[in-house]
Amino acid sequence: MAKRSIDKAKAAKEDEFYTQLEDINNELRHYRDHFRGKTVLCNCDDPRISNFFTYFAYNFEFLGLKKLITTCYKNQNMDLFSQNQSEQAVYLVYEGDKNGNSTPDAEEIGVKPLIGDGDFRSKECIELLKEADIIVTNPPFSLFREYVAQLIEYDKKFLIIGNQNNATYKEIFHLIKENKIWLGYKSGNMAFKVPANSKERKTRFWIDESGQKWRSLGNICWYTNLDIPKRHDNLPLYKTYSPKEYPTYDNYDAININKTTDIPCDFDGVMGVPITFLDKYSPEQFDILGMSASAGYNPDIVGIPFKGEKDARPLIHGKNTYARVFIQKRKQSEQ
Ligand SMILES: C[S@@+](CC[C@H](N)C(=O)[O-])C[C@H]1O[C@@H](n2cnc3c(N)ncnc32)[C@H](O)[C@@H]1O
Repeated sequence: MAKRSIDKAKAAKEDEFYTQLEDINNELRHYRDHFRGKTVLCNCDDPRISNFFTYFAYNFEFLGLKKLITTCYKNQNMDLFSQNQSEQAVYLVYEGDKNGNSTPDAEEIGVKPLIGDGDFRSKECIELLKEADIIVTNPPFSLFREYVAQLIEYDKKFLIIGNQNNATYKEIFHLIKENKIWLGYKSGNMAFKVPANSKERKTRFWIDESGQKWRSLGNICWYTNLDIPKRHDNLPLYKTYSPKEYPTYDNYDAININKTTDIPCDFDGVMGVPITFLDKYSPEQFDILGMSASAGYNPDIVGIPFKGEKDARPLIHGKNTYARVFIQKRKQSEQ
């Protein structure tokens, strides 16, 4: 097999993480009002295993949905994923309970064949995307950038699972900075079922009593452009500024903050905060100016004047600190 197909297959294998119903329930309960009368698309979801399909099908009437569309992706690397060999990519359409038993029965779910493999980027899947109002899924981790770019291109509302580190991708960071996307409620640890052929690992991996393999990831979050109350909650600030506790960087006119909860209430200049700040960000309280997450200097991302020479990571007394988001408190009149 050519090296490229092996790489592709490896990436695809690492993409098989199945979200638990409980995690979907816990997040989605904050968004109920957004769904009334809407067509929902889950476009990375084999309906036989996807709890996104289960959640929306069983809550169809409760949420007042108009239509649920779910597409299933058939992996093309059949030599490595033999269990998929005879399966065809399909999409499902559910338009609600017809026989009054409040359950999505098999005869109420339309199963339709797809011509291609169900790739979310394919023409036929894009047609389904166009039809949808809100896209909700856990997309392939390896295609996160492309996945979000497509949602933005088609101006779609969405709620999707990703890695907190995705926020440091330049394209994603720009969207966050411009208040076009933000983080949802849950951030942190999340456990996922993984396929039987998943490699065993020393940490964050277990097999339950039924033989099901699991992995947990510590830095998972939801990304959305649906407005939620959390996004307008101001972070309570109680600390006061002192130059000793909050040193100014050697290479930026900004002070260093080690913990988001330590942001001082009386400092009006630029502050460098950990990436996890994004989970607490309210655009009414702060402006995001930029980010310094890597050694390479990109003025478009850094967003504030750089006084250094080469290494763009924030320096304190000649030592590199961690990646930082540059923020500034909004003026009282703007809040
Ligand atoms: C992180 S898993 C999540 C699965 C499911 N959404 C869930 O949350 O349980 C991502 C899924 O996307 C599928 N996938 C990978 N590449 C895809 C593509 N190009 N188009 C659509 N789906 C894809 C994978 O097969 C995998 O099942």
